[in-house]
Formats: sequence, C-alpha cells, structure tokens
Amino acid sequence: MPRPSSLYEQIPRSGIRTIFDAAARIPDVISLAVGEPAETADPHVVAAANAAQADGHTKYSNVLGLRETRDAASAYTARVKELRYSPETETQIVPGATFGLYLATLSVVNPGDEVIVPTPAFPSYDAQIALAGGRSVHVPLRPENGMRLSAHDITRAITPRTRAILINTPGNPSGAVTNRAQLAQIAELCVRHDLWAISDEVYHAFDYTSPDGSAAPSIAAAPGMRERTVVVESLSKTFAMTGWRIGYLHAPAPVIEHSAAMAELLHSSVNSGAQYAATAALSGPLTSVRRRAATYRANRDILARILQNHPTVHMIPSEGAFYALLDIHRTGMTGTEFAHRLLEQEHVAVVPGEAFGAAHPGLVRVSYVGDSGDLCTAVNRIVEFADIVTRDRSQVENARIPLAV
Ligand SMILES: Cc1ncc(COP(=O)(O)O)c(C=O)c1O
Repeated sequence: MPRPSSLYEQIPRSGIRTIFDAAARIPDVISLAVGEPAETADPHVVAAANAAQADGHTKYSNVLGLRETRDAASAYTARVKELRYSPETETQIVPGATFGLYLATLSVVNPGDEVIVPTPAFPSYDAQIALAGGRSVHVPLRPENGMRLSAHDITRAITPRTRAILINTPGNPSGAVTNRAQLAQIAELCVRHDLWAISDEVYHAFDYTSPDGSAAPSIAAAPGMRERTVVVESLSKTFAMTGWRIGYLHAPAPVIEHSAAMAELLHSSVNSGAQYAATAALSGPLTSVRRRAATYRANRDILARILQNHPTVHMIPSEGAFYALLDIHRTGMTGTEFAHRLLEQEHVAVVPGEAFGAAHPGLVRVSYVGDSGDLCTAVNRIVEFADIVTRDRSQVENARIPLAV
C-alpha cells in the first residue's frame, strides 16, 4: 500500500474518543461524557422535513442554503440576539458548526497566521487551524477567573502574526459565560490590532447568568465588531438536532463570499431535508429550548450542591452550556488517570481535561445534560472514589515520613 498522507500526523488526536470507546465496553456505565441533549428534535421539526421530502424537495440547494432557511436563521438571530444579518449576503447554512468553524477558519486565516485559542477548548479548533496552515497560540483560561475569557491574558499573546481570536462562550468544556463587559474589552483588542473574532456561539441558548433566560452575549454586538466577527452557529444543541448536521454562519459579505466558494468545492450544498427541518425549528416556538435550559440549570444546581465545599473535588462554577470542570488534582491523579480509573472502578464516564488541551493536568469535564437521578448517583460515586484515592495516597505518603526520634 502507498503511504497515506502525512497531514494526519500534523493534527492533534482527539482524547475524547478514547474514553467513549472504553465506556462503550461497560454495559451499566453512567455517562457524564456526553455532549448532546438527551431529547430529539420537536415533532413539528421532523414533520417539516418529512413533508418537504414527500413533496420532492430533495435536490441540491444554493451553496448558501435555501433562501427560506437563511431567512429563518437571520430572523432567529435578530429575535434572540438582536443582531441583524442579511439573509442574502451575510448568512450561510452549513452542515453543522464543526464544518462551519472550518469554513470560518479557512476564510480568515492565511498560512503562517497565528490564532489565539483560549484553552481548554473544543478540540476541532486546533486541528482546523493546523489544516488551514495556521498556528494555534494557547492562552490558558484561569480557574480564579471562572474560566472566562480575559482580555488581559489575550493581550499578552498578540504578536504581529496574530490574525484571529477564537471566542467560545458559553464555553465547552468550562461552562463559563464571558459577560458583555469582558467581551467589550476583547473587542477593543480586536479593533486595535485589526483582528478577526471567530465566535462559536453554539451554546448561546444555555446562559444561566441571564435572569430572563435570554441568549448569552455575542462579541459581534460589541462596538466595531460586526465587521470583524464570524458567528458560528448550530442547531445541534439549541434544538436537540445533533444528528441532522445543520448550522449557519453570519459574517460580513466578503467572508461569506469566500466561505461559499470553499463550501461549493468541499461539500457542494447542505442536506435539503435538514434545511427544511432547520427552517421550522428556527422560526417556531422556543418552548422546548427554554424547558431544556431550565432542566440543565436545575441539574447544574444539583451538581453544585453535592460538590459544595467538598475537600477533594472542587467544581469550577459553571454558568452555561451543560458542562462543568471538576478540579481533582488533590487526588494526585491527572485527568486522564482519574477518568480511566473512575470508569473501570465506578462505571462513571467523564472526559479528561487533557482532551481539551487543559493547561492544568488535574481537571475532568462532566456533562449535566442527562437524567438528574443518574447525575446524583454518578457524582456521589465520583466523590467517594476521589476521597478513597486521596485517603490511600495520604496514608502511603505518611508511611514514607520517618518518625521523629
Ligand atoms: C464548542 C462547540 N462548538 C461546536 C460544536 C459542534 O457542533 P455541531 O454539532 O454543530 O457540529 C460543539 C459540539 O460539541 C461544541 O461543543
């Protein structure tokens, strides 16, 4: 066999898959590793896709997406984020945010450019920047800042080669929500240094800092940012539509022109059934979205209550999405060791922080998207496991200390 391409060697491996594969071998596992809602799309959404397909709407569509889907995306953004984008020139339907992020990256990053990635972060960012010929510059998110993005930390990473900053709020894996004032400071940096913001807003509907359940703030709303932001959106999390593979970009018209040219050659057009489903979801009621947000918030509170003041496992406060980072460094284990031993001994799956490029080795990500009873059981097992491991470790350490004579 001829050698496969060497590109593969240049992209980082996903540490998430290892834990998923190991968890799949344990029949009674409780998984806090999942990154998707337990529910499926609303019946009116499924019905819209079925009806369109039954009517023969199964052909290629415009590379930007069906006009009605772009209209719906643009109207949804105006409705929940109060941001206005032309459906004609500033909106593109994409096959999920993962691919949308790649198109966004290809559209604004030149080979050799640096992109600032606050970490821990969604693993595709680094891989996609590498595929675009760029270089990721990691800026560690700090627990003492609640893992929110910090203009102060980002400034120090800016060089003449910096081209863009990856913004993800509410964040995966942290669950942190960067507030409007903090985003405005990062926006000032973007304007001053003439940088792009690639703003991954796939968790915008799950912001528990907002008293009225409104969407998390977008950096695109900050002064001077509309013309230098690519908003990357998805229906996966908001509308429980992960398998439909559908999302959208909002950006200035020249960027959409670039990304459409690339989309034409890379995926041609987006699945038409999924576009009809997306049109129905984006223009329909938000009742299920709000119900899910309330459920996740209640689950987050359960998690926080169990872990409150716990001596071994510290939960870094989670304000959004459906994830929280647990600091388990007192066990003496890395996130990877902890996740694998927890899985084997307690049948609970969590994702090691290292899978997201965490600078701190003693972190694991838990997802609180599932059943609250399972969540309680799993977190109690995590705590018990961590306590036993920590006690055994301190006994071993004490045994090593020579007695004073
Ligand atoms: C931060 C973040 N961005 C993007 C995505 C990808 O979403 P999609 O299903 O639309 O590809 C995910 C999925 O987990 C995510 O966590």
